[in-house]
Amino acid sequence: MGDVRIAVLSGAGISAESGVPTFRDDKTGLWAKYDPYELSSTDGWQNHPERVWAWYLWRHHLVQQVEPNDGHRAVAAWRDYAEVSVITQNVDNLHERAGSNPVHHLHGSLFEFWCDTCGSRYHGQLPDMPEPELEKMPPQCECGGLVRPGIVWFGEQLPDEPWQAAVEAVATSDVLVVVGTSGIVYPAAGLPDVALARGAVVVEVNPEPTPLSANATLTIRESASTALPTLLQQLPELLTN
Ligand code: APR
Repeated sequence: MGDVRIAVLSGAGISAESGVPTFRDDKTGLWAKYDPYELSSTDGWQNHPERVWAWYLWRHHLVQQVEPNDGHRAVAAWRDYAEVSVITQNVDNLHERAGSNPVHHLHGSLFEFWCDTCGSRYHGQLPDMPEPELEKMPPQCECGGLVRPGIVWFGEQLPDEPWQAAVEAVATSDVLVVVGTSGIVYPAAGLPDVALARGAVVVEVNPEPTPLSANATLTIRESASTALPTLLQQLPELLTN
């Protein structure tokens, strides 16, 4: 299998079993009264930077308290058997902590920060946040600008480098494994169509149906941590059909 090229496109579902809450199921309730759009858009940042900063700083600290699960670890282990490119919509670092490298973050990362005025990367000390807080003033850059999270907000362009790497990986892969994504946010949701158009094998791993299910070569209605550890054994048969 060494010469098989596998691309992985992951979404929030692969991190759900690690306990990473997404907007939709964040039970802390603290932000439940806010429309997720308010917390992840340039409008939200312009109008209430202290609220947006508190939301992302909380998730930055929260992600460090959870662990990668068997789904992340399976994807990392595939590197011993095939050439693997990991593309994720997630902003957590669980793929990296499981051993995958590189990981192409289409929607940014909770672990990157930059100045919203001069754009320079921020490497300074981050304030602690032992308990979720509704508002917290973001750090200031030397230029006087505010430090923002390195997240792609609704309405913003995807960063070019990860997107190009994702298109390249999908355009050259023998198999695309699409795991834990509802497949409704573009342009990421368009990547499986690129693989299908080339005749690559597309495997969907999701307990629920999605718009991709009807066209995928194989749909596995299981969770990531159940399906991914045994998926590699099924590939030779899939590839010869
Ligand atoms: N294993 C696999 N899939 C799972 C699991 C699991 N244990 N649990 C849930 N899922 C599936 C759900 O059925 C759903 O289809 O994961 C998917 C999660 O969908 P979303 O919450 O929409 O997450 P995602 O597709 O990553 O969202 C895309 O939208 O919120 C914005 O920018 C944000 O990157 C995010 C983008």
